Amino acid sequence: MEDSGHKPVLLKETLELIVPRPGGVFFDGTVGGGGHSYAILRESSPDGILYGCDRDGEELIRTEKRLKSVFRERCQLRYGNYSEVKTLFPGILFDGALLDLGCSSMQMDQKERGFSFSGEAVLDMRMDRQGGGVTAADIINSYEEEELSRIFFEYGGESQSRRLARIIVQERGQRPFRTTRQLAELIERRLPRRGKKIHPATKVFQALRIEVNTEFEHLRRGLESLLEVIKSGGKLAVITFHSGEDRIVKEFGKFWARDYIFEGEVDIPELRRWRSPVLRVITRKPIEPSDEELAKNPRSRSAKLRVYEKL
Ligand SMILES: C[S@@+](CC[C@H](N)C(=O)[O-])C[C@H]1O[C@@H](n2cnc3c(N)ncnc32)[C@H](O)[C@@H]1O
Repeated sequence: MEDSGHKPVLLKETLELIVPRPGGVFFDGTVGGGGHSYAILRESSPDGILYGCDRDGEELIRTEKRLKSVFRERCQLRYGNYSEVKTLFPGILFDGALLDLGCSSMQMDQKERGFSFSGEAVLDMRMDRQGGGVTAADIINSYEEEELSRIFFEYGGESQSRRLARIIVQERGQRPFRTTRQLAELIERRLPRRGKKIHPATKVFQALRIEVNTEFEHLRRGLESLLEVIKSGGKLAVITFHSGEDRIVKEFGKFWARDYIFEGEVDIPELRRWRSPVLRVITRKPIEPSDEELAKNPRSRSAKLRVYEKL
């Protein structure tokens, strides 16, 4: 099959843990360039089925063509959000499910989509351009200063979040933001690199992408929905690229693996209510890329894989 341009991250490790096998039914909620989907279909040959979706309909058409040319009806793809898995694939239960979060290399490399600060493009950053929704320009030109500062800090881990929010609000009063270059250059001017390798706008761009695509909300909803559609003994694998995403996945796993629940903020042992755990945590610590993978694919650098078994 011709290459999509996206190197699937932690592929070997994911396959070892979700174990695709003939006759199995699998779900890939973030099909992207189809690297993981391809491997799942290959390993589950001759009769495993892969259901998959992506909110980027443009990319999905290309990937579907490539996967269908090899696997035909064993590959069933839909345009849509993985948090809607129950509506996209009603009544289907899975032996294994995968979410490989964030953006694909194709999305980053298509400059006109505005994900990257290198080059000149409209500040868009929507993964799903068919579904409407706000763009990065809408956010940067309309959010209150405090709200901008919050998303830069929470979603980008930007330590200069307040300062940057203030500078952006001052600037947009003179000239609204339209392009990636306009924003990247302003940040670079006001927050010089001082020897750092990464571009000073990296964290702000990441924060805007997460906000534009409401990524954390979909992740929370998606995990809960997947829990309902994975068979007993089936596996859920999630690859994250951001500490906030990883925290959501880890907390989700901890909550459903416990054999009790408690009301409120504080866990008081006497007030626990017992229940059967719903998950088993397979990866106590998240799996990270090997040195070999890091050398071949620098974009894998912040990846973390967590895997759970539905009980
Ligand atoms: C890192 S890429 C996946 C790459 C893929 N595993 C491969 O091997 O080519 C992430 C993909 O997930 C999609 N995506 C992100 N959030 C999504 C969501 N909530 N629902 C559906 N697709 C989503 C993006 O559009 C992107 O194509």
